[in-house]
Amino acid sequence: MIIETLSTFPDMFTSYMNASMMKRAQDKHLLSFHSYNLRNWTNDKHRSTDDTPYGGGPGLVMTCQPIFDAVHDICHGICTPRNPYYAWEGEKPVHTNASDAKIVFLTPTGVPFSDALACEMCQCERLLFVCGHYEGIDERAFELADYQLSIGDYVLTSGELASMVVIDAIVRKIDGVLGADDGVCDESFVSGLLEAPQYTRPAVYEGRSVPEVLLSGDHAKIKDWKIRKSLQRTLEKRPDLLDDINLESLDAAHRNY
Ligand code: ADE
Repeated sequence: MIIETLSTFPDMFTSYMNASMMKRAQDKHLLSFHSYNLRNWTNDKHRSTDDTPYGGGPGLVMTCQPIFDAVHDICHGICTPRNPYYAWEGEKPVHTNASDAKIVFLTPTGVPFSDALACEMCQCERLLFVCGHYEGIDERAFELADYQLSIGDYVLTSGELASMVVIDAIVRKIDGVLGADDGVCDESFVSGLLEAPQYTRPAVYEGRSVPEVLLSGDHAKIKDWKIRKSLQRTLEKRPDLLDDINLESLDAAHRNY
């Protein structure tokens, strides 16, 4: 899978994408990642990517031109520098023969990102994340979007952070990224419920015991306990999830325990 990002702070991705599972995915050649600097597509002396909003209001709005040009060039593998005032930072679209990218915009006005969307998006060959900053993005730029996503009902200062959340949730679902033991099939949200509590050694920690059933070796009993705990926890913490539960698929998901 190819994942690219377009933002005014491309370095924000460096440490995250070079650690842990994101690094492992690249080392195993399951993921090719590249972050582009949107300022390379500006065409003014100040390399500005934003302007004051029409109709007034606080803050600045990201302008259409650099976004349209950058998305076009990156998707078509065009290597011509756009900014006549500044030297091209040695940055060239890296994928000249890649398939069409799906364009993802991160915005608090997008649809809520979910596990189901992560499953759908991890089937894509190539994703380009466009990260907004400041007060927002000129509405006309959204016509480029295949996905407009929000990661929650709060406003971040940076679309970079939101896109890292989405990228992480997608990349861990690519076949081969997680080890065989780290499976994604019984975790929270896959069955529509929150995951049952987990424990590891020691069996007793300063007087706090692991539930006995988990030490019993009785797989049928353990499966039953996990389903009950999942339901109980979901009822307590996220009763809204129970509205959409399909009991048949719940049973199928838990049959694999
Ligand atoms: N940019 C700022 N806030 C955001 C949010 N909640 N989700 C996605 N992108 C954002």
